[in-house]
Amino acid sequence: MTTTDFKNLVAEGIPSELPAPKPYDQELNHAPKRKDILTRSEKKLAIKNALRYFPLKFHQVLAREFAQELSSFGRIYMYRFRPDYDIKARHIDDFPHRSRSAAAIMLMISNNLDNEVAQHPHELITYGGNGAVFQNWAQYRITMKYLSEMTDDQTLVVYSGHPLGLFPSHKNSPRLVVTNGMVIPNYSSQDHWEKFNALGVSQYGQMTAGSYMYIGPQGIVHGTAITILNAGRKISKKGESLKGRLFVSSGLGGMSGAQPKAASISGIISVIAEVNPKAVQTRYSQGWVDEVYPDLDKLIPRVRKAISGKEVISLAYEGNIVDLWEKLADENIYVDIGSDQTSLHNPWSGGYYPVGMSFDESNRLMSDDPGRFREAVRRSLIRQTDAINRHTGRGTYFFDYGNAFLLEASRAGGDVLRPDGEFRYPSYVQDIMGPMCFDYGFGPFRWVCCSNDPADLVLTDNIAADVLSRLIKKSPPQIRQQLSDNLHWIKEAGKNRLVVGSQARILYADAEGRIDIAVAFNKAVAERKISAPVVIGRDHHDVSGTDSPFRETSNIYDGSKFTADMAVQNVIGDSFRGATWVSLHNGGGVGWGEVINGGFGMVIDGTPETEEKLRMMLHWDVNNGIARRSWARNEEAMFALKREMERSPGLKVTVPYIADDDLIEEAMKKA
Ligand SMILES: NC(=O)c1ccc[n+]([C@@H]2O[C@H](COP(=O)([O-])OP(=O)(O)OC[C@H]3O[C@@H](n4cnc5c(N)ncnc54)[C@H](O)[C@@H]3O)[C@@H](O)[C@H]2O)c1
Repeated sequence: MTTTDFKNLVAEGIPSELPAPKPYDQELNHAPKRKDILTRSEKKLAIKNALRYFPLKFHQVLAREFAQELSSFGRIYMYRFRPDYDIKARHIDDFPHRSRSAAAIMLMISNNLDNEVAQHPHELITYGGNGAVFQNWAQYRITMKYLSEMTDDQTLVVYSGHPLGLFPSHKNSPRLVVTNGMVIPNYSSQDHWEKFNALGVSQYGQMTAGSYMYIGPQGIVHGTAITILNAGRKISKKGESLKGRLFVSSGLGGMSGAQPKAASISGIISVIAEVNPKAVQTRYSQGWVDEVYPDLDKLIPRVRKAISGKEVISLAYEGNIVDLWEKLADENIYVDIGSDQTSLHNPWSGGYYPVGMSFDESNRLMSDDPGRFREAVRRSLIRQTDAINRHTGRGTYFFDYGNAFLLEASRAGGDVLRPDGEFRYPSYVQDIMGPMCFDYGFGPFRWVCCSNDPADLVLTDNIAADVLSRLIKKSPPQIRQQLSDNLHWIKEAGKNRLVVGSQARILYADAEGRIDIAVAFNKAVAERKISAPVVIGRDHHDVSGTDSPFRETSNIYDGSKFTADMAVQNVIGDSFRGATWVSLHNGGGVGWGEVINGGFGMVIDGTPETEEKLRMMLHWDVNNGIARRSWARNEEAMFALKREMERSPGLKVTVPYIADDDLIEEAMKKA
């Protein structure tokens, strides 16, 4: 297909003739059948909703087809409208456009739906089991068409995948504003999502799926490596290395698939359980996991050998995590660090597979008999926590990986609560990411080279490494370890062959680092050293991006962790300071109704206006969260904020006075 043919097809939107039906591709990983939740009249409404994307002449055929899709899959994906071209990141100018910012957004959308990148590409799910880019293929086609024709005086508005339309705006406003899953708070349960999504009126955008900022598992390898490395520092109190130590967890999916690679980068042995053979195969074929064992009796001697030989190796157990934890306990194998990355933010709809049932059996049961499936999940979680408790009783350091494991285990009646009602294990944010990264402003900054050329990525890596080397020299001791871990990461990133999909890089950085790197990119684009614009952005899982009481804001202890002002303010603030696109989501990581998060994308095009915007926007994007964390009396954030106020004229933040606890105790006694 020539580039012109491709451009014409992208700009076509809904085709004037009905395309031929598409066969269901068995080679690809598909979303499980969703819960049959709609009443008969609601099903009619779902079909009517779906048909409004199409001219009446198609309705006869499509009404039947959509009714069939709803009955077979629990959703109307409109498979027939999946385009015939390969959806993947390409050079920015290969996308038809009148606005280069719009073309950059098309590149990012395409990457999120690439068969090599997305978890269930034909159901438009990028990761996390239900992290959707769009709800159906009509939304994809219309969005791409709008982007192909929009100018820098318009803004595209997208409601949960639905392209509401192009609205006149001005060149300094975002080109795109996305919201995902925003509902009235009282209508935010798991079943509400099932229902609204089946009706085609809302979607779960995860974090970087529905905001078009996913960069493949690399995005999470860095964060996971930081987490494992710092978890290692917790157990290696005298600074011993992680050689010969063992890390056990579950999941080789979208994000969880990063665990074996990150463990190897951190120098620790890993055993990761995964029930889905296709997911195991994907990670194995990508070289992200070294060896696969479907048989526990063969795995155990291999683990023992790895420990005694102090190997750095990653092993996959193709089976259920509950069986793995129990077997390791029965065999008295000491696990140094443990976690879990099943998709428990989505426990009843394919995120968690209960023990004692095959993968296919579970998939059948969850739609045929949701009640029995729920019960199986509940029993499995109790067994899993019992097995984990046996290990922690022997000294294993276990942490919740932000997948709602402790939350769902406690709801299931698992033994995970302390007498005071708090969880007996920390979340990785409480112990590691919060105090060590977020409170100082370090978060998952990332960029994508719009030339799609690996040579540009090498250049950006070198630029970022130079910036960090310079910053380390003048850094205070409190953040030097982080900076040097990140410098090491960026120097090794090319060698670790982390790119899957777009030419992208992640690099944890604080406000100063993000700004200096982005300014240096802008200069290199202006001087044509980098051959095309660069998109900068971040995971929502960041300092300011996410209000999530059991994850990103779990280390906020002033009672405000159930508020979501920070994330909402963040998106509003980014949008008027120069972001190219912004997105605000209900749900992401820990589940619908459990979190509000937002993010941005910004096209770095080498102009002076862009430098001004990026300085202003990145400064706010990080310091909003630091200010909130400082107000919550987090010491590290108070330190970071004080430092920022000293170097940023115009920044004046309310800082807390710290009251004496004894004084309050005394006052209470007398009250
Ligand atoms: N990696 C991170 O840094 C990070 C951070 C925050 C949260 N999370 C959370 O981790 C979870 C996983 O994310 P993902 O993108 O990998 O999701 P995913 O759905 O792509 O992968 C999860 C995998 O777990 C497997 N699985 C489910 N139940 C299992 C069981 N009982 N035993 C063994 N395997 C089982 C599934 O088959 C699936 O492949 C999500 O809830 C996500 O929000 C990850």
